[in-house]
Amino acid sequence: MLTLTSVYAGYDSTPVLHDLTFEVRRGEIAAFIGRNGVGKTTLARTVIGLIKPTQGSILFADEDVTGQPARSRARKGVGYVPQGRGIFGDLTVEDNLKLGRTIGPLAPRPLEYAYDMFPILGERRSQIAGTMSGGQQQQLAIARALIGQPDLLLLDEPSDGIQPNIVEQIGELCTKLNRDEGLTICLIEQNVDLITSCAHRCLLLEKGQITQRFSPDKLQDPEVARMALAI
Ligand SMILES: Nc1ncnc2c1ncn2[C@@H]1O[C@H](COP(=O)(O)OP(=O)(O)OP(=O)(O)O)[C@@H](O)[C@H]1O
Ligand SMILES: [Mg+2]
Repeated sequence: MLTLTSVYAGYDSTPVLHDLTFEVRRGEIAAFIGRNGVGKTTLARTVIGLIKPTQGSILFADEDVTGQPARSRARKGVGYVPQGRGIFGDLTVEDNLKLGRTIGPLAPRPLEYAYDMFPILGERRSQIAGTMSGGQQQQLAIARALIGQPDLLLLDEPSDGIQPNIVEQIGELCTKLNRDEGLTICLIEQNVDLITSCAHRCLLLEKGQITQRFSPDKLQDPEVARMALAI
């Protein structure tokens, strides 16, 4: 579903990804892990198309999308939930969701889909999004991406600053969407509970490359967790 081959990308002053190669198979939940600052967000932004690689290629569903802008990739079925959520804090919950319906593939889901998934969003549909709790804003960010009906969902540290019961719900949702709808998920995370609750495989990012691939169970080993995560 997603193949990066020898990708180099970063910022003017800071090269970050060096010869990055990996594949995510259709129907898989792949956890991308790595310590703070190794380039996980840069990887997500490169996959969605907000950062242009200087070398290498990105294939999505067997199509070369390397030169395509983010909006084209979103149209083709890549959903993106950025780190820090990226919701429009001045707009209502419902208006955020309506915007989500305009950026995905051409068959967006009805608003009720989001309200069934997270009933709190239905209760708060008229509320200004920025006044909700961090967990509710994260639920909104996830619902806004899913309402566009993506085939691949990129989640960048959805557990960041969120209370444990909502983190648990996010893990359950990932498992359910993957099982029932075949959604492929790239989960960028450092939360062991969330990773082990839903991911099929871990890919460890270090020095701009994927250096190890292993089963999420291995994170129970404190040595592995120390190497792979900011704990
Ligand atoms: N807009 C930017 N301009 C220049 N350098 C940046 C920019 N954003 C990030 N960087 C640098 O790129 C490197 C990778 O950052 P990135 O945000 O991708 O890491 P990360 O693994 O997502 O970190 P975290 O776990 O803290 O979210 C870091 O050295 C960071 O300082
Ligand atoms: Mg990050």
